[in-house]
Amino acid sequence: MVNHQESGSPTRYAVIGSPIAHSKSPLIHSLFAEQTKQHLTYEAIEVLEAEFESFVNAFFESGGGGLNVTLPHKERAFALAEVTTPRASLARAVNTLSLNKAGQLEGDNTDGAGLLNDLYLNHRVSIESKRLLILGAGGATRGVLAAIADLANKPAAITVANRTLAKATALASDFASRLAITASGYDALDDQQFDVIINGTSASLGGELPPVPPSVIAPDCCCYDMMYAAEPTLFLKWAKAQGAAQAIDGLGMLVGQAALAFTRWRGIEPTTADVIQALRVHP
Ligand code: ATR
Repeated sequence: MVNHQESGSPTRYAVIGSPIAHSKSPLIHSLFAEQTKQHLTYEAIEVLEAEFESFVNAFFESGGGGLNVTLPHKERAFALAEVTTPRASLARAVNTLSLNKAGQLEGDNTDGAGLLNDLYLNHRVSIESKRLLILGAGGATRGVLAAIADLANKPAAITVANRTLAKATALASDFASRLAITASGYDALDDQQFDVIINGTSASLGGELPPVPPSVIAPDCCCYDMMYAAEPTLFLKWAKAQGAAQAIDGLGMLVGQAALAFTRWRGIEPTTADVIQALRVHP
């Protein structure tokens, strides 16, 4: 494919998924563009599963600069990409597509790094040498583990807890050569404490709480929910009630993954704190 970026022309970006109508990505990227004085358009486009590959190919053939990919296409995007970054390969999912200098379709996964940047840059929470608990063993958790595997300074120990233990065990074994990681059921967490707890389950979507024993919360514990809503999620309310020092929702992760995609496409890194603030004020 011709890389139009090289000729300096592309200004067209989009997020594709289904459903997509309520995506905040167009607003986030327009705020980044304003902040960094970049001229571009960014729209949300509904793309059904059957048309995913043909849409992506046509988008880049016609000079599109980059795509964000969301549910349900992240695994298909990984399969379609000709080249993938190490973190996307580990995540086995792609949320950011662009053409590289050779004109190949390149896939990255900025979700996990977006979360880690939010924790570190916006909340001053380091996971280096900490005891980290991640709840859930689906794609969201895999993405975070992929980003942690990229870090120079890793947590002392990572526990992945899941209702279905076999999924946690399989995930842990995929990362065992790179991370100090163990799988656990929720019951077995009873006698352990953690410094940072990340909720990567989809429980909050259904207004449910993962069955974590309250004793897991160490003094100064930071709890992070990858989900966010206008009101604090059930998990974050629970965390506060158990005495967690910080309870952070996933809005900063959303903005953080977008910032890394924007940087990849435009070569200029936007700041996130002001954009997160703008989204809080006008949800
Ligand atoms: P994603 O790709 O967003 O991670 P997923 O692959 O469907 O989504 O995974 C959802 C995760 O949330 C799973 O770990 C699931 O646990 P199971 O594997 O045991 O099903 C977890 N999950 C969903 N609802 C939950 C709930 N009410 N309590 C605890 N865990 C829940």
